[in-house]
Amino acid sequence: MSIEIDVLNGDASWPLAEPLFKAVWPSDVVEKQPWGHIKWANADLRVLIEAPSGGLACHVGIYFRTVTWNGRKVDIGGIGGVSTREDCRRHGYASIALNAAIQTMRDHEAVRFALLFCEPHNFAFYRSRGWHPFAGEIYAEQPEGRIRFEAMAPFIFDFSRAPREGVIDLCGLPW
Ligand SMILES: CC(C)(COP(=O)(O)OP(=O)(O)OC[C@H]1O[C@@H](n2cnc3c(N)ncnc32)[C@H](O)[C@@H]1OP(=O)(O)O)[C@@H](O)C(=O)NCCC(=O)NCCS
Repeated sequence: MSIEIDVLNGDASWPLAEPLFKAVWPSDVVEKQPWGHIKWANADLRVLIEAPSGGLACHVGIYFRTVTWNGRKVDIGGIGGVSTREDCRRHGYASIALNAAIQTMRDHEAVRFALLFCEPHNFAFYRSRGWHPFAGEIYAEQPEGRIRFEAMAPFIFDFSRAPREGVIDLCGLPW
């Protein structure tokens, strides 16, 4: 079976992704989450997989950011908005989209590692796909100012750097 997979500009492809976001994260569910109040960054690129039956099956957002790690600037990639339509789950779509996102980030030579944030029920999913927990502190911007970001747990995918602890400042909104 062949699948249709695209990597598109984040802003231009938002109208394609929005219905999936609304289905996976309805606003009445989101507002009850510990992260429901967070203001998130917009994706720079989006990996989109079309369902064989039509419509969007899976989405992964890609972010590029110069952050600081222990006070030193470093270019990293971010992953966010990982979501698969309920009737399309457990077919490997998120795994395929994550691999495409990592390959896209690898193509940007400056990217030293990738970072995502997730909830405990997804820890095993990411660990089994090569992501490692980051035990240090994360800081991020919010409309009210700089905050320590603890709403979700950080996981790292190593490229040429493999941070496991220390302080990462996202120098902007989280993803
Ligand atoms: C988490 C989520 C994105 C996974 O999407 P998915 O497309 O179902 O992911 P995959 O199919 O790649 O993998 C899911 C499981 O199905 C299994 N699987 C993959 N292909 C399969 C197949 N053909 N047959 C049976 N099982 C399969 C995988 O092994 C995996 O199991 P594992 O985690 O025990 O290894 C999806 O459940 C989701 O959208 N959840 C709600 C939103 C969310 O929590 N997003 C994460 C934000 S960080």
